[in-house]
Amino acid sequence: MDKLLVEGPCKLMGSVEISSAKNATLPILVATILCPYPVKFTGIPDLMDVGTILKLMQSMGVKVERNLNDYVIDATSLTNQHADYLLVKTMRASVLVLGPLLARYGVASVSLPGGCAIGARPVDIHLSGLEKMGAHIEIENGYIKAKCDKLKGAVITFPFPSVGATENIMMAAVLAEGTTVIENAAMEPEIDDLADFLMAQGVKIEGSGTSRMIIHGMKINELKPSPWPYRVIGDRIEAATFIIAAIMSGGDVKVSGFNPDHLKFVLETLTKMGAQLEIGKDFIQIHPSQRLKGGTIETLPFPGFPTDVQAQMMALMSIVDGSSIVTETIFENRFMHVPEMIRMGSKITLKGNSALIEGVESLSGAPVMCTDLRASAALILCALIADGQTEIQRVYHLDRGYERIDEKLTKLGAKITRVKG
Ligand code: UD1
Repeated sequence: MDKLLVEGPCKLMGSVEISSAKNATLPILVATILCPYPVKFTGIPDLMDVGTILKLMQSMGVKVERNLNDYVIDATSLTNQHADYLLVKTMRASVLVLGPLLARYGVASVSLPGGCAIGARPVDIHLSGLEKMGAHIEIENGYIKAKCDKLKGAVITFPFPSVGATENIMMAAVLAEGTTVIENAAMEPEIDDLADFLMAQGVKIEGSGTSRMIIHGMKINELKPSPWPYRVIGDRIEAATFIIAAIMSGGDVKVSGFNPDHLKFVLETLTKMGAQLEIGKDFIQIHPSQRLKGGTIETLPFPGFPTDVQAQMMALMSIVDGSSIVTETIFENRFMHVPEMIRMGSKITLKGNSALIEGVESLSGAPVMCTDLRASAALILCALIADGQTEIQRVYHLDRGYERIDEKLTKLGAKITRVKG
């Protein structure tokens, strides 16, 4: 297992280009299961999670051609509608194959993703939505066994705006008979990107990016390939991570290649805390600022503060003037970075789903362990500004969702060595 050695403190300077969003790339790659032709992509990020979803699709017979970050995905050769436990257990997003498989083939057998480091994360909202569309679903030996004659459009009201369930139902609805309405749909920009990808092929979707989405079902031969390779939107979470890294280091950094509107709440919070941000159309320029002051955040579905930036924000809050409060409302167990950050000198007290962070003067390097993707990002941020060396173990968590983060940070002036293991 690779580890990173980070020598701190450092001041980040220069510019960094953000990669395409992991959380949009995964559902969009899966959506090719609906397409009766090969689909071209450009700028697909080199991430472990992308490799995992493609491996899963290949195990079903999908053909994948790759030239660096350009891909051609051909699902016309898909012959097997089975998503095996061994692949699904490593990545919850694998459950997204359920909707498109059912819509196109009327059958799917997909392993239940099971628990994960950040909580139980059930898939009941996905399943009840598909049942409403006429699917017959049973859980057998740890697998979701689903079948249907033909999915039918329905009005589906989510009890919670689940990102994955919205995507699963959207994809299922494309080849369903009639119109599907999703009430209380998730509004994340990655969902909007999936809608754009589908609409580029002739699918009729109304209200994407709002809480009421309408998808008009069509026949498979009515889908038309787009003449251009599809490029997925920039990763707002990666962008937020670099913005926070730049602020923490007191540096001067331009973060480009994403839409700052996708980070409205994060940018407002950072500005309120004293960060000097220049907001462009597709970039943020971070200027050095005085030491920031504390803030308060509560994670919420989009457009609220993203849970995927909560850990990175706590890294920043560890070294501001005064105290801060973070409340996590999306996931039940998403403070695993806290014990590791405390080992580096952060002062954090947990109470239920809230954390009180008292800012300290500085952090100190220590051996630490990654536990999940965004927790790992928070640890690398702490390591950048800590005094001395931090040894970060289990960096495969980072490699799941950040494209070459160590190389990108090194270009900005960080001292990071990857030790292959
Ligand atoms: C997606 C993102 C993830 C992000 C999360 C919330 C991808 C690949 N992952 O995950 O990075 O942190 O959105 O913004 O896009 N829930 C249920 N039943 C369900 C579905 C969800 O109870 O059927 C609960 C989950 O346990 C969790 C909450 O709803 O507590 C949010 O989950 P959801 O929005 O579905 O997140 P994901 O799609 O898994």
